[in-house]
Amino acid sequence: MVVIDLDTQANASYTLQSFRSGLIASGLFADVPSDSWPQTAIDFTDPDSPRMMLIASDIGLANLEKISLSEAGAKFRDAIKAIAEQGFDVCLIDTAPSLGVSMAAALLAADYVLSPIELEAYSIQGIKQIVTTIANLRKANPKLKFLGMVPSKVDARNPRHGRHLQELERAYPQLMIPTGVGLRSSIADALASRVPVWKIKKTAARKATQEIRALATHVFEKMEMTQ
Ligand SMILES: Nc1ncnc2c1ncn2[C@@H]1O[C@H](COP(=O)(O)OP(=O)(O)OP(=O)(O)O)[C@@H](O)[C@H]1O
Ligand SMILES: [Mg+2]
Repeated sequence: MVVIDLDTQANASYTLQSFRSGLIASGLFADVPSDSWPQTAIDFTDPDSPRMMLIASDIGLANLEKISLSEAGAKFRDAIKAIAEQGFDVCLIDTAPSLGVSMAAALLAADYVLSPIELEAYSIQGIKQIVTTIANLRKANPKLKFLGMVPSKVDARNPRHGRHLQELERAYPQLMIPTGVGLRSSIADALASRVPVWKIKKTAARKATQEIRALATHVFEKMEMTQ
């Protein structure tokens, strides 16, 4: 699997730093002929070689908004194709939350999109725009499937969260993923310690692990992937 971090906040790059490859995300939009893409360090024939590679967020991503979507989209799509040809099975792209050129380029190259959402007003108000953007980009990329929205950081004791969840289920019955993730400090602990949540030695991490695994199973099923 290759993970591309398109968010200048670089959270995924921090958490997955041990999988750094030396490749940077803005390079995927640069003028590099796809046949001269650097070969990755992964030896797919070696069972001890890591199975994940990070293409890290870098400051060059801040300049992307200056190039046109058609140019950024074409370059990114070529780069993804060159990466796929090196033998990776899955490419996971983490985008910035804003609907800019880099998110649009990712949606033009992707086969699937999953939107984690929070059940707070500031997050809810952006949902309509995300749904519209995905619908629009599907005209240019018809193979893109919207896997849906995952409620994240859900606080079961917060009546506002319950209300917002109900409203969203009514407004987007096909798009709400049933396996949400609660507000769980063990997830924040895991991200900060750069380990999967099932490596956190706390009883509370068990529930978080179940939720993350249920979400992964749901997503793999929708992508028709076997684990
Ligand atoms: N389910 C959760 N329970 C508790 N804390 C969480 C959970 N998910 C994420 N966090 C914490 O919330 C913060 C933001 O998480 P993350 O970077 O995954 O969110 P994001 O939606 O990608 O943010 P942004 O939209 O700004 O990119 C991090 O500090 C993370 O540790
Ligand atoms: Mg993020």
